Amino acid sequence: MSNNLLAGKRGIIFGALDENSIAWKVALEAKKQGASFTLTNAPVALRLGAIKKLGEECNATIIPADATNMEDLEKLMTQSVEILGGKIDFILHSIGMSINVRKSFPYTELSHDNFLKAMDISALSFHRVMQVARKLDALNEHASVLALSYIAAQRAFPGYNDMADNKAALESIARSFGYYLGKEKKIRVNTISQSPTMTTAGSGIKGFDKFFIYADKVSPLGNASAEDCANYCVMMFSDFTRMVTMQNLFHDGGFSYTGVSEEILNSLVADDDSASA
Ligand SMILES: NC(=O)c1ccc[n+]([C@@H]2O[C@H](COP(=O)([O-])OP(=O)(O)OC[C@H]3O[C@@H](n4cnc5c(N)ncnc54)[C@H](O)[C@@H]3O)[C@@H](O)[C@H]2O)c1
Repeated sequence: MSNNLLAGKRGIIFGALDENSIAWKVALEAKKQGASFTLTNAPVALRLGAIKKLGEECNATIIPADATNMEDLEKLMTQSVEILGGKIDFILHSIGMSINVRKSFPYTELSHDNFLKAMDISALSFHRVMQVARKLDALNEHASVLALSYIAAQRAFPGYNDMADNKAALESIARSFGYYLGKEKKIRVNTISQSPTMTTAGSGIKGFDKFFIYADKVSPLGNASAEDCANYCVMMFSDFTRMVTMQNLFHDGGFSYTGVSEEILNSLVADDDSASA
């Protein structure tokens, strides 16, 4: 259903890799809601080619940018303003990558070089994006800047590895930068903490399929899908959330505030009779 929630708004969407990517779904929904935007990803990801299809579907120009490279980000920001015909109203940062996860280094035996690289890609890049946008004055008043996070920023999830530390930093950067952008131009900065979702980044996590099932059984509403997440992102880009900033917003079917569910309890003890027998 389209309500034209983003009519006339211009955006930049980072991180659509393939049809499963959360950013892919956000692009489709933003288009449906009347936005125009550019799409961007690391040059190596663009070589895989899938994003071309999304670009055509959304009538969006694709601009390569490594989110850890300030020159790339400056070009991206300048070209986006030119192509879209004005300053930017929303940015989605949908980027995550850990070499420690990819190469199965356990958290207790990390490569710290890999750790620094992952932190740069997954967290510091969010700071870089906002720093460049601010320097070039590329954002409109009341713009909305959003990144995607995961509850391992607050709680231990064995297997999520150094991505947990990256997400904690990402959420902190949203608060810290959000203060300045809010004061200067009433710009909102938030993170959405999403349920486990079957994507390339998600399924790279050790034991991800079990994370997924566990979260689904604990959450009263079940896991939130990538499409649900896209709807929430669109709402956060819209004028209906103009006073929401510096928040980490859980979008997880209630997982974050549920202690335990009956499904989980029942899977631990067969029934009362057997327990007392
Ligand atoms: N899938 C999940 O379970 C889940 C849950 C909560 C949060 N998230 C977060 O959602 C975001 C999107 O991930 P996804 O699940 O859609 O997976 P995805 O693999 O489709 O997206 C990750 C993206 O990061 C991009 N990227 C990696 N290095 C980059 C760089 N140097 N410069 C620019 N882009 C780069 C990749 O090319 C890819 O498009 C990530 O921040 C992820 O941590 C995912």
